[in-house]
Amino acid sequence: MANPKSPKTVVITGASAGLGAALAQAYAEPGRTLALFARDPVRLETIAQSCRDRGATVEAARIDVTDAPALAAWIKAFDAKTPIDLVIANAGVYTGHGPQTMETASDIVWMSRINLEGVANLVQPVLEGMRPRKRGHIAIIGSLAALQPLADAPGYSATKAGVMAYGEALQEYLIPDKITVTLVYPGHIQTAQVAGHVGALPHIKTPEEAAAIIKRGLDAGKTFIAFPWQLLWLIRAGRTLHWRVRALAGKDFRFHIQNPPKGP
Ligand SMILES: NC(=O)c1ccc[n+]([C@@H]2O[C@H](COP(=O)([O-])OP(=O)(O)OC[C@H]3O[C@@H](n4cnc5c(N)ncnc54)[C@H](OP(=O)(O)O)[C@@H]3O)[C@@H](O)[C@H]2O)c1
Repeated sequence: MANPKSPKTVVITGASAGLGAALAQAYAEPGRTLALFARDPVRLETIAQSCRDRGATVEAARIDVTDAPALAAWIKAFDAKTPIDLVIANAGVYTGHGPQTMETASDIVWMSRINLEGVANLVQPVLEGMRPRKRGHIAIIGSLAALQPLADAPGYSATKAGVMAYGEALQEYLIPDKITVTLVYPGHIQTAQVAGHVGALPHIKTPEEAAAIIKRGLDAGKTFIAFPWQLLWLIRAGRTLHWRVRALAGKDFRFHIQNPPKGP
């Protein structure tokens, strides 16, 4: 049974796979309503059903986060009947340099549309309901790449740094509305996103481990969640160095992507 202090209604984007699916399952329990978003109806329904099996009430919506009008209409109708307590903006895509090729400008536009614009498309209509209620919690899934841009995935790093700047600005703006904004900076997670990664994946977590860390932090009301701590502290130490020294020290972390994914 959901703890009365914990969120009764949770919205998660990118819930059909990877971290989003693990978060949906971590939050699924009797007394809680989940709204799950993704594009692939079969994978989404499989996760939705597994959450219903755990006792949650689930609505699954096949919506692309770049479709702002569809997302806004769905969120407003849902929030009117089931006020949203927690939103986890998780949907995201990743590419990086291939073995011989760089990320292209269109790769960067594609990632920006989902990783940055997609988050704003979700958060804006959610806030229309939360602000008058003077309560609510928004979590944005970024990446450690927002804290230390990756030489081998510059566009991805830029979209994540951008979305975290957006979230950090919202944290302060929403203080009078008593809305909490949590910035989440994960390191590597064993999902489809890292399938083509050729290089080291230090301290990689399973999606279930990552979801448990995030849920624990959100339950505790943290506004900054970053893991694994080893990489966070390495990044913090590295940021005190000249970038050339940092580049030399970090050379074992360089990578490329085999068959980097492309947008539509
Ligand atoms: N894996 C890592 O190492 C890692 C590290 C740091 C941060 N992250 C971040 O964690 C989040 C989850 O990533 P993941 O590793 O779980 O990736 P994943 O396994 O590829 O899952 C991505 C999810 O996003 C959904 N999605 C993609 N484009 C979408 C769109 N336009 N509209 C709606 N849903 C969309 C996908 O579902 P559909 O295809 O069904 O739409 C899927 O459910 C992302 O923001 C990612 O950047 C991941």
